[in-house]
Amino acid sequence: MKKILVIGATGQIGSELTPALKKRYGEENIVLAYYYPPLPKELAKKEFSVQFDVRDIDKFKQACIDYNIDTIINLAAILSAKGEQEPLKAWDTNINGLINTLEIANELKLERVFVPSSIAVFGPTTPRINTPQDTILQPTTMYGITKVSGELLGNYYFMKFGVDIRGIRYPGIISSMTLPGGGTTDYAVEIFYEAVKNKYYNCFLKADTRLPMMYMADCIKATIMLLEADINNLKHHSGFNVTAMSFTPEELANEIKKYIPDFKIDYNPDFRQAIADSWPQSIDDSCAREEWGWQPDYDLAKMTKEMLIAISKKLQIPISGLTD
Ligand code: SER
Repeated sequence: MKKILVIGATGQIGSELTPALKKRYGEENIVLAYYYPPLPKELAKKEFSVQFDVRDIDKFKQACIDYNIDTIINLAAILSAKGEQEPLKAWDTNINGLINTLEIANELKLERVFVPSSIAVFGPTTPRINTPQDTILQPTTMYGITKVSGELLGNYYFMKFGVDIRGIRYPGIISSMTLPGGGTTDYAVEIFYEAVKNKYYNCFLKADTRLPMMYMADCIKATIMLLEADINNLKHHSGFNVTAMSFTPEELANEIKKYIPDFKIDYNPDFRQAIADSWPQSIDDSCAREEWGWQPDYDLAKMTKEMLIAISKKLQIPISGLTD
């Protein structure tokens, strides 16, 4: 892993993963690829960066050649809620973006590829509590269908062509730098902005909807750990179960109330409720723990405190009694 291309570098995960990768592997060894949102101007000047649509294989391949890339991290995807509004676009972006990644990795004989999967691979027929690594994958969203297909394709390219592909079934990712782009778990980010700004949140999921979640610091830690794992220890490749915590909107609201006592929440479920109801409540990530040593650092309490500190700083709205 000498030169890493991060596709989706300006998205929720990309915007925090790229600085972490630069710190670890050297500024000059990380190339930022983005399509939308654009790279902030001040960064576009300084950094190795390239703009292309992940579906455009010619530009994608040329970027890999120009920058002498040996590792691709492809984070570009249309998530669950947005994918239900534009299912064919979700298929096109997620699947053709992945196929292009795998084809280029095979043709240019790249060292390694990382493509995230998601808890969206699971569906109503999957056991919902402590969901096993190897289980029924019959999702009911287009996003989930693309992620199951992606895992199967990744495993196929590994078996048939020896492409070293790795992936994590990310749970809901909670972060303060960049907003998530159209997922069902987005409420767990929005709630912090609304709590700090307005002391009120109108939640689009029911109070007792339990979902697996992870704080960004753990997401970055897991991603780098799997990227660096010894391939000889990996029995799985494209879709590792990984989790850190599971909570409901009500439990998260109660945790926020410890710092903002007059915070109020209402529940008005919309179409995203059906998506959430088809996903696991908690995840068994013992394979990730055994095969590459996964262990999270953040639980609900620790994550909530850090998020409130970060969002209050970002919005410049102090919360009394809360400092870092
Ligand atoms: N956060 C994603 C979503 O809600 C799940 O991987 O779509």
